[in-house]
Amino acid sequence: MHINHEIGLRIAALRKELGYTQEQISVILNVTPQAVSKWEKGNALPDIALLPQLAKTLAVSIDRLLTGGCFTEKTGPYDGEYKKEEYYWGTQHSLLAEQVVDILQAKMDKRLLDIGSGEGRDAVYFSQSGFLVDALEISTPGVEKIRQYSQMSGHEVNILHADMIGYELRNVYDVIYSHGSLQFLPVAERQNHFDRYKRHTSAGGLNAHLIFVEKPFIKMAPDWEKNEYFYLSGDLARYYHDWEILHCEEQIIECNSAGIPHRHAVSSIIARKTEV
Ligand SMILES: C[S@@+](CC[C@H](N)C(=O)[O-])C[C@H]1O[C@@H](n2cnc3c(N)ncnc32)[C@H](O)[C@@H]1O
Repeated sequence: MHINHEIGLRIAALRKELGYTQEQISVILNVTPQAVSKWEKGNALPDIALLPQLAKTLAVSIDRLLTGGCFTEKTGPYDGEYKKEEYYWGTQHSLLAEQVVDILQAKMDKRLLDIGSGEGRDAVYFSQSGFLVDALEISTPGVEKIRQYSQMSGHEVNILHADMIGYELRNVYDVIYSHGSLQFLPVAERQNHFDRYKRHTSAGGLNAHLIFVEKPFIKMAPDWEKNEYFYLSGDLARYYHDWEILHCEEQIIECNSAGIPHRHAVSSIIARKTEV
């Protein structure tokens, strides 16, 4: 098959996997929808200057976009762990997820976005509790685990296999949730991301997050990655200073990830977008 055609098929497949339309891709890349259509049909190749943004939007490396290879490349920090049969984070949902469900009790069919879903323990729990769940996760084996856990439990989850950095939110959600994943947002990107989460929340909807905070008396966790950045105490309350704060807490928790017992300082918030 001609190389242009192969690349075009790959762009189309990745775009569809992420649920983007050709029009949406064209807006992100500032090109015409016709240009995207031409790439997908193999009638033209994207300009070289567009490749970094196109690859980022489609949540793959430029190499994978162009060659289709490297499906074994590391796509997320926990790929190795997620490939194992057991569930690295377990299948028991988190306390924060339970608190969100308790607040929105009996309100079915609420749309929820879980950012950095891991292997899906909270995403599946939310689905089981009556939410329509989008689970956003960067790791390819993580996504496979979410799919597997969702099928096994019989609770449907819509998977968004994507990088949270630069991912364009397309829906308005009743809940935007994250548990231990927003440390992957570089500090300079955070304000922008939290602003977007707030904008994409319906009136009366919730944002709930658990983040890691830096404390001089707590050692760095053994599985802390180079692209993880701590928050400071109070950061979450500041991002949501103009919303109703339903829960805001800081705790020291025990953790055994990587098989080595250690501690984390974590801060969690549940904030409600109040109607004015
Ligand atoms: C500490 S784990 C928490 C997983 C899950 N929320 C839980 O509590 O079980 C953080 C998750 O964020 C994901 N992640 C890291 N960087 C990401 C990114 N840029 N976009 C989307 N997900 C990302 C990781 O692959 C990982 O699954």
